[in-house]
Amino acid sequence: MRESRPIVALDFPSFEAVKEFLDRFPQEEKLYVKIGMELYYGAGPEIVSYVKSLGHSVFLDLKLHDIPNTVKSAMAVLAKLGVDMTNVHAAGGVEMMKAAREGLGKGPKLIAVTQLTSTSEEQMRDFQNIQTSLEESVLHYAQKTQEAGLDGVVCSAHEVAKIKAVTSEDFICLTPGIRPAGSSVGDQKRVMTPADAYRIGSDYIVVGRPITQAEEPVAAYQAIKAEWNAQA
Ligand code: C5P
Repeated sequence: MRESRPIVALDFPSFEAVKEFLDRFPQEEKLYVKIGMELYYGAGPEIVSYVKSLGHSVFLDLKLHDIPNTVKSAMAVLAKLGVDMTNVHAAGGVEMMKAAREGLGKGPKLIAVTQLTSTSEEQMRDFQNIQTSLEESVLHYAQKTQEAGLDGVVCSAHEVAKIKAVTSEDFICLTPGIRPAGSSVGDQKRVMTPADAYRIGSDYIVVGRPITQAEEPVAAYQAIKAEWNAQA
């Protein structure tokens, strides 16, 4: 299940910036990249086709959340773009997640966001009116995600062991908030190194700024990839 390449978060505002970044890598280096809302809405669906045409894999991070029928139709469109993985909000419900799977088909991986890491327990209680701990809510959503037939969840590396304990070993845990030792944490609150993320069972790590903002992005990518795979 474990992916050998760190997923590079292409948090760039435009097609040109993405092209300039990808052009730095040797042609034979096939990356796994994350395309998020900013880039997708700014550059359009063509950005996915472009990245795929270079032979890279794409995790399209759009976090869909709507009525089941709408999500199903949208997923069918994303499947045509050739995405390798995409996601929804688990809060949309089991029926919505099942519909997402139906629309996307069996090929691409489909994962869910549980509670956003920007949501505090206090916010969850006051605003969402969910009267439990944040951790219990995350675990509950993870179980429902599995029940709906999805492949896994986006989560903090610190939650991986507990999520796998209530789902299964092969339930994907994709973890952002990764920082190699000594690199700037930025706005991330709870970070983990690639080596530690491997040790605690992450299946995919997502790394953005430590690679995209590095003076030598290719070298930074290789170092993180080596650290991630050193544990294998
Ligand atoms: O630059 P950095 O490595 O912090 O980027 C991490 C990427 O993962 C960003 O695209 C960010 O939006 C995303 N992400 C995150 N934490 C989450 C969910 C997604 O950092 N809980």
